[in-house]
Amino acid sequence: MLDPITFFVSQFRDLLPEKPEPLRSFLPRPYRNAAVRFSGSSIHAFEERRALVEEAGLNVFSFPARKIAGCDLLTDSGTTTMTLEQWAAMVMGDESYGSNEGYFEVKEQIPITFGPEWEQRDELRENFFIFHQGRSAEHNFFNLFAGELRKSLPSDIKGLSNELPPDLKTRIESRIKGMRRPYFIIPSNSHFDTTEGNIEDSRLIPLNLPSPEHLEKNRDFPFRGNIDLSALETLLDTVGERVPLVYLTITNNTGGGQPVSMENIRRVRELTDKHDIPLFFDACRFAENAWFIQQNEPGYEDMPIPKIVYEMFHHVDGFHISFKKDGLVNIGGGMAFKDDGRFTQKYPDFWMKMIDRQILTEGHPTYGGLAGRDLKALVEGLRLVTSQEYLDYRISQVKRFGAKLESYDIPIVRPTGGHAVYIDLDRFFAGTETDDEDLKGIAFTALMLVAGHRLVELGLYAFGKLKDGKEIPPNPRVNFIRASVPRLAYEDQDLFSVAEAVRVLNDYKDRIPAVEVVYGRDLFLRHFKSRFRFKL
Ligand code: F0G
Repeated sequence: MLDPITFFVSQFRDLLPEKPEPLRSFLPRPYRNAAVRFSGSSIHAFEERRALVEEAGLNVFSFPARKIAGCDLLTDSGTTTMTLEQWAAMVMGDESYGSNEGYFEVKEQIPITFGPEWEQRDELRENFFIFHQGRSAEHNFFNLFAGELRKSLPSDIKGLSNELPPDLKTRIESRIKGMRRPYFIIPSNSHFDTTEGNIEDSRLIPLNLPSPEHLEKNRDFPFRGNIDLSALETLLDTVGERVPLVYLTITNNTGGGQPVSMENIRRVRELTDKHDIPLFFDACRFAENAWFIQQNEPGYEDMPIPKIVYEMFHHVDGFHISFKKDGLVNIGGGMAFKDDGRFTQKYPDFWMKMIDRQILTEGHPTYGGLAGRDLKALVEGLRLVTSQEYLDYRISQVKRFGAKLESYDIPIVRPTGGHAVYIDLDRFFAGTETDDEDLKGIAFTALMLVAGHRLVELGLYAFGKLKDGKEIPPNPRVNFIRASVPRLAYEDQDLFSVAEAVRVLNDYKDRIPAVEVVYGRDLFLRHFKSRFRFKL
């Protein structure tokens, strides 16, 4: 017979699931609030929000954040609630122009977080570059890289191979128009929109090759973020000389915040090895990706997260990252090249050009456009982000939010990703009279703002294009509403209130009006800038 205390301990232990389960919320948060911010506006102010939404041209980016009484799920980027350790470190920020204390600490932390292979070996050759956010790293990198490619490779490489499957060929050719030759293709599981924009801006061709599972909407795939290995193999076998770099976005944001398996990473490495091509990560949500590998990939269940991260990063030659996600900070980005990686071997002087770019666009390379205090906060963020307790809670919260939506019959991408829940609009509107031209995704997010919550359309409008007066949906077709969950910011109750508002839209989806575009339909990156109105 157990003594009563031991008995109760075992009963309490049984309350806790071995793995986080979506519908069991008694697993307490591994933190408590150390400061809170009142939203400053009332959830009851529906009429005020309606007027503001209309004033903002139904564009969620233009809606004043202070008027969001509920959850602001526009993005998980830069919206992290920082820990006391981070705030304390910020107070100790060293605001010197050159070689501030935070710089040395970040340099020390990079190989601790990403693995010893990322330590700078050569005293002179910088291997890590700070930028003020992810896209400035992308912009500078791709611009420089494009220049480098045009110099180093012959300009007369032959036309696209007839061995390419017709679908791939058409997709590449549609992008070639207007490009200065020679042209180069940068494939990925899916590039994020700024990455894609920056690649195009550098007159290179971004090519998304999401795995076939990505498009199968009604089944659970643990690694829906994978790249399509056979499409990649065909591409490399047929036009490999046009592919100077392969990218994997971890997690795959465009495809639903979905993870990429270690197996997929390893196989891509094998293919790129075979063709002598460098492999890079867009590593924004690397820790969340590692958590999914630990939870769902055979052989990794007992491996600590930091070790999984090391293994993931062992396979790549470089990465760019927005620290506004898994750096757990409000601003910051970076780019790294592995000292003995294939990229550094192929382009041994590239690092010097990166430094020049930093100086021209960001400031001295030892602060890269950030304040010294931002670097201090980043070091603390990188220390925390790979901890098991943080990730368990973080991702199980997103799961609970998804499960709540599903309990209301809202079609979401399954399984839920690491940072967001994606509502599948095609399934949501199935059975109603809805045309792509109605842009009901925009109406959906505008109505959610009236309800008090901010979500974003990542679908026909964000990724589609206007051509000859007609909307051309993205290919492959994606049509989602994204509800991103900021890190350490909201409690389940807040997210459940979002689910309840979505439920109302679901119950009355026939009454969701179409919208018309009043400005910006043909602009580049149009969803940030356009204005709409309800067709009432
Ligand atoms: N890559 C990915 C996968 C991203 O999700 C983002 C940003 C970037 C690059 C660019 O980084 O914002 O620091 O310049 N994603 C945010 C989002 C904006 O809402 O998903 P950044």
